[in-house]
Amino acid sequence: MNNKMERILVIGAIGQIGSELTLELRKRYGNNNVIASDVRNSPPPAIKENGIFETIDVMDKEALRTIIKKHNIDSIFHLAAILSAVGEKDPQLCWNININGSLNVLNLAVEMKLNRIIIPSSMAAWGKNVEKENVKQDSVLQPTSMYGVTKVAGELLCDYYVSKFGLDCRGLRYPGIISHETLPGGGTTDYAVDIFYSAVKGEKYKCFLSENTMLPMMFMGDCIKATVELAEADFNNLIHHSNFNVAAMSFTPKQLFEEIKKFRPDFEIEYVPDFRQEIADSWVYSIDDSAARKEWNWKPDYDITAMTKRMLEVLTEKHKNGLI
Ligand code: SER
Repeated sequence: MNNKMERILVIGAIGQIGSELTLELRKRYGNNNVIASDVRNSPPPAIKENGIFETIDVMDKEALRTIIKKHNIDSIFHLAAILSAVGEKDPQLCWNININGSLNVLNLAVEMKLNRIIIPSSMAAWGKNVEKENVKQDSVLQPTSMYGVTKVAGELLCDYYVSKFGLDCRGLRYPGIISHETLPGGGTTDYAVDIFYSAVKGEKYKCFLSENTMLPMMFMGDCIKATVELAEADFNNLIHHSNFNVAAMSFTPKQLFEEIKKFRPDFEIEYVPDFRQEIADSWVYSIDDSAARKEWNWKPDYDITAMTKRMLEVLTEKHKNGLI
C-alpha cells in the first residue's frame, strides 16, 4: 500500500476542528501542500493568508474530483458534517451530508487511487444497550440520534472500503471538543465551549443541559494531536481503522462550573435543559481508549483543570482586546 501523505485536502476547513487542524497540517507538511476547503466562502485570515483555499460542496462529486486533480491531492481529511443538535432538527439533511458526502470522498479515493482518507466518527455512535462507563472499543452501537446513525454507518462504510478496496481509511470517535478559536456549530456538547465565553464576559450562563449530565470531552490540543497521530501511524500496526475510541476527560456541567469558579468566583449558572438533554442522555459517561493507546500510542495531555486554565487565559485575552 502506497501511503505517502504529501498533498493534503482538508474538507470542512472553516469548522471548529478543521480551522485548527489545517494550520497544524500546514506547519507539518508545508503551507502549499495543505489545501483548505469548505462549503462556506469565508475563510478566516489565518487560513486564507498562508495557503490555498477552495470553496467546495462535498455533495458535488465532480467539483471535488476537479479540485483533487487540480492540486494533485493524495490524502483527504474529511471533516464536513452536520452535528447532533442540527441533525435532530433536520435528520434528512444530516443523512445526506454525512453519508453521501463521505461516499463521494470514499468513491473518489478509490477511483483516483488516493493514498489516505481520514473521516472522524463520534461518541454519538453509542446509544442503547451499552455500558455507560468506560465503554469498550467494540461495544454495541445502537445510537438513537440521526447524527449517531450516520456516524455508525460512516464507520462501517470506511471499514468496508478498507477491506473491499484496500483503501487506507482511518477515523476516531471524538468526544465533545472544547476550543477557543472557532465556535462549534450545532452540537450537544457545545455548552462546554459557550460557558467559557459567558465566564470571561462576566455574564450568567444559561446551560441547556442539566447539572449532572456526565459526558466525555477533549481539549482541542488533544483533538489535533489524536487526529494527526492516527493519520501518521503505520497502517500495518492498525487492527482497527475507522472507529478508534479516544478519551481525555469526563465531567458534568456542574463540575465544569465549579472548576471555572476557582478562577472566576463570581461566575453564575442556571440550568434550563432543552431538546439537547435527550440526546445527551442517550450518550455514554466515559470511554475506554486502550485500543488507541496500544495501536498508535495515544495519550492525552489535558485534564479538566489544564483545559479550563488554558480556555480562560486565551478567552480573557481575546475579550480584553475586544475580539469576543
Ligand atoms: N460534539 C458532537 C455533538 O455534540 C459530538 O460528536 O454533536
